[in-house]
Amino acid sequence: MRVLITGGAGYIGSHTAVELLSEGHEVIIFDNYSNSSTTVPERIARITGGPLTCFRGDLLRPSDLDLVIRDQGIDAVIHCAGFKAVAESVEDPLMYYRNNLTGLINLLDAMAEHDVRNLVFSSSATVYHASGESPYQEDSLVGANNPYGRTKEMSERVLADLVASDPTWAVTILRYFNPIGAHPSGLIGDDPEGIPANLLPYVARVAAGELPAVQIYGDDYDTPDGTGIRDYIHIMDLARGHVLALLENREPGMRVYNLGTGRGTSVKELIAAFEAANGCVVPSVVTARRPGDLPVVYADPTLARQELGFTPRYSLEEMCAHAWAWQRLRQG
Ligand code: UFG
Repeated sequence: MRVLITGGAGYIGSHTAVELLSEGHEVIIFDNYSNSSTTVPERIARITGGPLTCFRGDLLRPSDLDLVIRDQGIDAVIHCAGFKAVAESVEDPLMYYRNNLTGLINLLDAMAEHDVRNLVFSSSATVYHASGESPYQEDSLVGANNPYGRTKEMSERVLADLVASDPTWAVTILRYFNPIGAHPSGLIGDDPEGIPANLLPYVARVAAGELPAVQIYGDDYDTPDGTGIRDYIHIMDLARGHVLALLENREPGMRVYNLGTGRGTSVKELIAAFEAANGCVVPSVVTARRPGDLPVVYADPTLARQELGFTPRYSLEEMCAHAWAWQRLRQG
């Protein structure tokens, strides 16, 4: 297939590009590089040998989308582009709604215009309502508690309404849990600007001596060691989930899948796993809880396993080892 990946130079998009290219598909990357490096496409090509086509463009400029979809003979789109920092979305909600929602609508307009009605959409476990309980199933109550999460929830609704209005669309929504790690080569990985908001990139920078200590956001949760529990999934497993979803997305209609391992890991366990996998010491201090954090979030991955044949392959140790390989390459 010829697949357009919006946000194809970003963390999820770049690994998905690698996975698609390795499976013999053709990839067209569309990215404005607002939160990614222009060196990423060249690194993807180094890992896979290509063929890779890249467009620098913006979802908020419909003419950019029109051009790429009109000219590239695209069979399907994987829509990964979007802002994703919870705290930033609280400070500037309009920027989030504009980019994530207007961007989606512009993309759907351009796809419809050129008769491409096959879409895989990046969503998040953050859409689940805080009153729910792990393991979350796809029919668990939805209701995000921050503007970023609400852009994902609203995007899902836009897609559901679109599919209801025009049953020729084939749409698969993937709700990610906590993707971490990097391509085993260490050539691409998560590259947040400034101080990382997410746990694993923070741990990697502490291990590298760039930051003094990991702040553990609360150790008084009702969990075995008191720290928050999440469902960490290797980024290459998540990427493979996209390829499987795309292959199953031939029939019209809308499907929703959790992409997680179904296994919960606490903050302290993740830090210990990183130390053990990489033979290093990661200093940490316990601080106050981070507002909005839930104690325990992990997936019920049954539906993706049954319908997509999705089974994560990588261990927590490999997630930590690959994240460290990427961190060392970043440092140069
Ligand atoms: N944590 C720390 N210290 C840190 C960073 C995180 O203790 O410096 C803890 C958090 O409290 C939480 C766990 O580590 O218990 C994971 O936190 P992350 O920020 O890495 O991930 P979240 O689960 O909070 O967020 C992720 C995605 C969001 C998404 C959310 C919804 O990053 O984009 O899942 O499930 F919205």
